[in-house]
Amino acid sequence: MVDRHYLVNFNSDNLPQYQTELLIVGGGIAGLYTAWKAIEAGLEVTLLTKRTIIDSNSDRAQGGIAAALGKTDSPELHYEDTMLAGAGLCDAVAVKVLVNEGPSRVQELINMGANFDRHGNQLAMTKEGAHSKRRILHAHGDATGAEIICTLMQQVLNQGKALVLEQHFVVDLLVKDGVCCGVLAYDERSQEYCIYWTKAVVMASGGAGRLYKYTTNPEVATGDGIAIAYRAGAEVMDMEFVQFHPTTLVLPNAPRFLISEAVRGEGALLRNSQGERFMPRYHGMAELAPRDIVSRAILSEMAATQKSYVNLDLTHIAADKIKRRFPTITATCAKYGLDITKEPIPVAPAAHYLMGGIKTNYNGLTSIQGLYACGEAACLGVHGANRLASNSLLDGLVFGNRIVKHLMKTIDGISLNKERFICQDLFEPAGDVEAISEQLKWTMGENVGPLRTIHRLTRALAFFEQNEWLKRHRCRNAREMELRNMLEVGKLITEAAMMRTESRGGHFRLDFPETSTRWEKHIILRR
Ligand code: SIN
Repeated sequence: MVDRHYLVNFNSDNLPQYQTELLIVGGGIAGLYTAWKAIEAGLEVTLLTKRTIIDSNSDRAQGGIAAALGKTDSPELHYEDTMLAGAGLCDAVAVKVLVNEGPSRVQELINMGANFDRHGNQLAMTKEGAHSKRRILHAHGDATGAEIICTLMQQVLNQGKALVLEQHFVVDLLVKDGVCCGVLAYDERSQEYCIYWTKAVVMASGGAGRLYKYTTNPEVATGDGIAIAYRAGAEVMDMEFVQFHPTTLVLPNAPRFLISEAVRGEGALLRNSQGERFMPRYHGMAELAPRDIVSRAILSEMAATQKSYVNLDLTHIAADKIKRRFPTITATCAKYGLDITKEPIPVAPAAHYLMGGIKTNYNGLTSIQGLYACGEAACLGVHGANRLASNSLLDGLVFGNRIVKHLMKTIDGISLNKERFICQDLFEPAGDVEAISEQLKWTMGENVGPLRTIHRLTRALAFFEQNEWLKRHRCRNAREMELRNMLEVGKLITEAAMMRTESRGGHFRLDFPETSTRWEKHIILRR
């Protein structure tokens, strides 16, 4: 059988073959938590991650994890805030699942030893944009993701029941008659391809911030899982909705390091280069308005003042509180010569989170049987057009749990299906990976950023359509595969952004600035 959607030439008969009951792709919160749940349920698990287990967006998460655990809070209030931030496109059932099941999942983390910050015996909770209550749990001040990942890693690795393989790049899914029966993987250490036959795959491979030059995301966030699933025929949804975090560090020689929304939650103010506090002019919630609104307000002030940043001012907050509450941010800024207790932080928006992804149902199942998706790679509509701050870690837990529950009901009836898969007709690529990758980032930033028009999007689409790498090329190493995946995801974002002739949440069209009731619907794409 010759199939036409692979990145490399291969013949499964000639490759080393392994088998596992459940294969998880990705080592962020969604992958690790799902692995832990599956192990607890008695499943045999293999987890593949393309770099090391700590290379993920989850590990970098600062602000925290939202859950209605406070005395004056409730899932209903969390539901209302999530729906409002989502700008009319949240799936109401999915949001109910998230806010109702979220507190128990967070309690599981606490029970397994996750050390969230406390005031005395009580969990400390902060506020972030568009939350009506203080409901964000945090750890070590601003290192929440690292604490959660460390806790989950101990559970998964110590139990010894999961095989965790680093430097394993998943190239493509092996799908026969609409059923996913395994993956083709590339072991970067041995530089060998291999096949994993499995009863189910959970794609928990994270987002795609690296499509943009300015991003909070680590190098691994290249949208691989979404591109892989799309090539295999899965439906993807809401790809036009990219979240630009309002406040990332703008200093010469510094990366676009995230300055957590929790900083504004603790009272920091945004000022333009003339020192004016501007957010009250844009929204009643001022600095704590939904993220898309704050990002656009900042861009507007930057344009009006002809500066590449605005200032985030914490200098009115006691220095010892800043240092205690935000030790990572304080230390990182100090590394670049900025004392945030004395000087404002220059900030600008940068790509942060993809609301879209592989379309799933409420149990994480995609349109391909045997393929589940979870976390940022997935899209159920739980974040609508604009994710509420600190709902992403929660999403990974809640839907990871549901995937395992669903699997436990079905897995006994599934048999391993070892088919023969061959691809032999790809040819050598031309062009320098680094140069094309830079062109891609430039194209996305200029044309598919927070402010879009049909002209910009048309330019971006032309870039993708002319790109030789999206044709029948054979990838020779993992960097080339990442580039190919980034190009595929960039094209999907561009196509969906062209279709949506309105503005909503993270998708803003200067040529269609209004939100239209006609567009209260999702865009679903399939190869
Ligand atoms: C932040 O700390 O501002 C990021 C949290 C998030 O993306 O939800």
